[in-house]
Amino acid sequence: MNVRIEPSILSADFVNLEAEVARIASADAVHVDVMDNHFVPNLTFGPQMVGRLQAVSAIPLDVHLMISDADRWAPGYAELGAFSVTFHAEAATDPVAVARRLREIGSRAGIAVKPGTDLTPYLDLLPEFDQILVMTVEPGFGGQSFMADMMPKVAAARAAIDAAGIDVWLQVDGGISLDTIGEAAEAGADTFVAGSAVYGADDVEVAIGDLRAAAGAHRH
Ligand code: DX5
Ligand code: ZN
Repeated sequence: MNVRIEPSILSADFVNLEAEVARIASADAVHVDVMDNHFVPNLTFGPQMVGRLQAVSAIPLDVHLMISDADRWAPGYAELGAFSVTFHAEAATDPVAVARRLREIGSRAGIAVKPGTDLTPYLDLLPEFDQILVMTVEPGFGGQSFMADMMPKVAAARAAIDAAGIDVWLQVDGGISLDTIGEAAEAGADTFVAGSAVYGADDVEVAIGDLRAAAGAHRH
């Protein structure tokens, strides 16, 4: 299983994002948290900013939409050229239709679940997706504590992916650090978002390398 490390620019300096993305050249993707003050109680940026990031970033964009009405808004982010667009199951009326549209435009399609959301109804839909995101904090803010009680959900997703024999990436987001990444990897995650653990480090590239090694050592 490949380990992917995706730093979240939510913890970066918002007025220097081009430079902040350039600092993480060894990362597999840059995780871009789009929030609308409605689906979550925080506001970040929208398509204009994501379009500019897409234009200046040397690494792929992993867009995480924490916005209501994903059916309406998600395809626009794929149209900007994002490598991957993940929307929340709780915010979509027809997740399969959204995923098909994203793939048709040319992005990978991801589905995310909040900590309180049961994954079971979505496991049958996995072949329609390229990525599933199990939130390990309540979405909205960086720097929160990792919810270890989400590990059974990660393990259930891993079991379903393996049983189906499909190549769906299993992402975790929230509270990922050197202290927690091993546990998430052991549960079956292969794609790790880390905001404060990367951008809060003295040397971001060392932090990415250390996270990658720690996840690799605990690989499922
Ligand atoms: C939270 C965001 C995360 C956040 C993670 O709603 O989806 O991507 O940036 O930050 P850390 O790694 O600091 O928990
Ligand atoms: Zn995120």
